[in-house]
Amino acid sequence: IIEKEREGDALPLLLGVMGDPIIQSKSPAMHRAALDASGIAGIYVPLHVRAGSLREAVEGVRALGFRGVNVTVPHKVEVMSYLDEIDEGARAIGAVNTIVNDDGVLKGYNTDGIGYIRSLKREAVPDLGGKRVLVLGSGGAARGIVHALLRENPARVTVANRTAEKARELAREWSQLGSLYGCGMEEAAGVLPEVDIVINTTSVGMYPVPGRTPLDPGLLPSGIVVSDLIYNPLRTELLLQAERKGCTIHNGLGMFVYQGGYAFEYWTGRPAPIDAMREAVLDSLG
Ligand code: ATR
Repeated sequence: IIEKEREGDALPLLLGVMGDPIIQSKSPAMHRAALDASGIAGIYVPLHVRAGSLREAVEGVRALGFRGVNVTVPHKVEVMSYLDEIDEGARAIGAVNTIVNDDGVLKGYNTDGIGYIRSLKREAVPDLGGKRVLVLGSGGAARGIVHALLRENPARVTVANRTAEKARELAREWSQLGSLYGCGMEEAAGVLPEVDIVINTTSVGMYPVPGRTPLDPGLLPSGIVVSDLIYNPLRTELLLQAERKGCTIHNGLGMFVYQGGYAFEYWTGRPAPIDAMREAVLDSLG
């Protein structure tokens, strides 16, 4: 047994999520369900890490032999400074949400954007090739999604933001990756008649201020796909109105589940039990 412990074999897999606040995180419930469903002996803990303690916390991952951690608000950008390696996608996006510890070498990934795209493809649009997409917002979430989206060969991606310059800047930065255009929210209204998919990445409509929409839902063409990253509530005002107009709707629950699914696969090398994970999140949403 002692020999095994020296090799680490007999110990449970240590996993967790670092953030501030962290008490509300659904990741522990989701990953515990994943470990259970996969028959893996592991522990996934919420780790309350305050600003100013992140460097030591990341050192702790190494010292304590955690196999990996998720990183959430407000640490996704700063954490990049404390890692040994950063995946190419995460570097381009400028944020890390998953750390994998390979024998003391810490590598950072971003599974948010690829998780979202996997969810969108499985749940609403199997093939994104040739699609015209309007992305609302150009913050961290939008960056992950646009980066992953451009790999799917869409015909055109328009990013519209309240602060138009931020969207234009993003379009300039990634102009080599595909047909990407940045504009303000007013211009987005003009683009709407020519899009197949609208994706809201802003927090407009999120609990505790539901009811609001990032753009006038009256302008949504019927028959398109409307997706909202928000999953609390599961149906935002934007999605409710879109459904009334005959659009296909898609919420952010799948993004959360699949970003965790990718992380689980990186840590364990096993396929993520997506249904068990989704059920655990739905249960913890109450
Ligand atoms: P996240 O990581 O969730 O994307 P973020 O990086 O802070 O968070 O980005 C928030 C995005 O939502 C931004 O695009 C922001 O627009 P601005 O760049 O103009 O700030 C957008 N956003 C937030 N609140 C908004 C509101 N009330 N109306 C419109 N857009 C809003």
